[in-house]
Amino acid sequence: MRKPVFFTLTLALLFTVVFARADEGMWLPSLIGQGRIQDMRSKGFRLTAQDLYAVNQASLKDAIVRFGSGCTGELISDQGLLITNHHCGYGQIQQHSSVEHDYLTHGFAAMNRSEELPNPGLVVSFLVEMRDVTDQVLKGITPSTNETERMRIIDANIKTVVKKATKGNHYHASVEALYYGNQYFLFVYEVFEDVRLVFAPPSAVGKFGGDTDNWMWPRHTGDFSIFRVYAGKDNKPAPYSPDNVPYVPKKSFTISLKGIREGNFTFVYGFPGRTYQYLHSEAVRYTQEMGDPHKVKLRTLRLDIMNRAQAADPAVRIQYAAKNANVSNAWKKWQGEMKGLKRLGTVAKKQAFERRFEAWAADKPEYAGVTTRLAALYDSLEPYALARDYHTEAVLAIELLKFAGQFADARDLEPETIDRLRVAAEKFYKDYVPAIDRETAQALLAEYVRNIPERFRPAGIDVEAVFDSTLFADSVQVGRLLASGDTTAIRGAIDRDAAVRAYRAFMKAYKTAIEPEYTALNKRIDRLYRTYVRGRMEMQRGEREFYPDANSTLRIAYGRVEGYRPADAVVYEPVSTLEGVMQKDNPAIYDYDVPERLRQLYEAKDYGRWAVNGTVPVAFIATNHTTGGNSGSPVLNGRGELIGVNFDRCWEGTMSDLEYDPVACRNIALDIRYALFLIDRVGGAGYLLDEMKFAE
Ligand code: ARG
Ligand code: GLU
Repeated sequence: MRKPVFFTLTLALLFTVVFARADEGMWLPSLIGQGRIQDMRSKGFRLTAQDLYAVNQASLKDAIVRFGSGCTGELISDQGLLITNHHCGYGQIQQHSSVEHDYLTHGFAAMNRSEELPNPGLVVSFLVEMRDVTDQVLKGITPSTNETERMRIIDANIKTVVKKATKGNHYHASVEALYYGNQYFLFVYEVFEDVRLVFAPPSAVGKFGGDTDNWMWPRHTGDFSIFRVYAGKDNKPAPYSPDNVPYVPKKSFTISLKGIREGNFTFVYGFPGRTYQYLHSEAVRYTQEMGDPHKVKLRTLRLDIMNRAQAADPAVRIQYAAKNANVSNAWKKWQGEMKGLKRLGTVAKKQAFERRFEAWAADKPEYAGVTTRLAALYDSLEPYALARDYHTEAVLAIELLKFAGQFADARDLEPETIDRLRVAAEKFYKDYVPAIDRETAQALLAEYVRNIPERFRPAGIDVEAVFDSTLFADSVQVGRLLASGDTTAIRGAIDRDAAVRAYRAFMKAYKTAIEPEYTALNKRIDRLYRTYVRGRMEMQRGEREFYPDANSTLRIAYGRVEGYRPADAVVYEPVSTLEGVMQKDNPAIYDYDVPERLRQLYEAKDYGRWAVNGTVPVAFIATNHTTGGNSGSPVLNGRGELIGVNFDRCWEGTMSDLEYDPVACRNIALDIRYALFLIDRVGGAGYLLDEMKFAE
């Protein structure tokens, strides 16, 4: 009896591997064909390619927006209601917050349409259409066209394509290069600019776990916020006006209340920012051995200083909260990326692939030697790349220098400029602690001097002297200067200032000794990638399907709900619940201080219709291939119903930007039912549910 069971298990395992492999990929919706659909259907997808993407009829893509410039959002009612992440709406929520109305701390709920809050500057973009325009863009280019001429022709052709696409309509359009310029796609968007805040949970829910839990599983963050898209009376985009009406989208998502289980099919439909699947082994080696470790070390120095100061003083904790979150986000991601690349042996795998490529290319003059030429260029690039990393992560991480830089770079001292500087100064000093910055500057510049050769840096910068004598460390002095109105005096004071002079010296070194060579080398590298990637596609035709690197355009990734093993003897389950929120509850720790109302509901187990097995589901992980920009993306079941909102990735899998690993790469999604529970039972805005459609 044992044998057959074992045999079945092995077979099942075998299939898991084959299936899991296919979880890699961020596919262009318009190019999803029958083969892909069949693979998706075999895993639990129930719809057709036209349901995903169609131009002449409504499809799921019409319910998805690029939210602002770096996130995704989706429509959940036919009255313009939209859901995205709390961290995507954070800036807006903060803007509307004051001491009297502290929506960051307490959350926000509009109780009717008139209470919804407009957000100047925030736009959402719907994709109207995407189309291959490679032939038009490369028109007039021949094998003998030189690179400069090629770029000129492409730029001109792109202008023509965009002009044609936007003629006689109100659309926005852009042409994006795919596969390093081997293919070009036109993207046409309808952009709405009246987007109002409807609901936000308290930060203690929306940012629960803060930076401690960031990038990690198990996760218990209610990371969502709700907005509403408004349009003119004709349902077209219009600037903010009280007369605008809720936008009626072509499509909005039905919300699934059926729940999810391990193994269920899911897909993520959104706007991933950047990935680098085709990178040369030398570029990966740089990331793993140089770029990431140096950047992590520099950020560790900054975080240690900030954390110490923040722990010692509650006011400083608030002042440096956003800065700390910013610094810590990539810091943590890079650590996962380094470890992941090392564990996967990505460099060695790439080297082996490059050898295979060269063997294949040996009799093809067009391709032969391209990977060795890339290796040589990367070798030349390395010192410049490291110097550049230190310029951004050490020099420009000194708050004082960056701030003084705004004065140094001011072109004139017209009244508007002075106003702008005054506003910038107010913002800067509100959250500035000179002692933190001085200590940070010393630590960072010591590393900079230790790691960057003299030829890349200015001589004789004395941090102590700069901080002792600059007027930019002192808000009163700067305020007085700006108020004087005496432009000659202001100009003189700026030009003489020690921080301005240090800033200018660093910038001069960067602009003369680092940037020109860095840019020139990268141009040559990009051009080789064009050839290399074209060659790979030729070589691997029929062997694998290609997808272009993410570039903030609409993509579909699919996989399934699944846990993972982050370390020896540790198994992660794929679903988290309110039990975990309460296990982490600790009023003494800012990031884990559960709101009182939620605590009460938990004590009384008063979950109403949201109870599932005596608790409330909170988040889940799945094997979907995602990256930054996918925040807020709809996570959908096989029927295209909304089951979650993507908000993060597990840090052991963050090398998926360079190499996806089915064993460790997981996206993290909020279970949509936690959002509904919070809106209904904690936020008291259950009326919003009346306009949503549910599948039970
Ligand atoms: N790691 C997520 C992302 O890359 C969330 C970042 C915001 N949250 C935070 N705790 N800093 O955007
Ligand atoms: N939190 C990320 C975002 O803002 C998503 C995490 C990631 O996959 O990089 O897009």
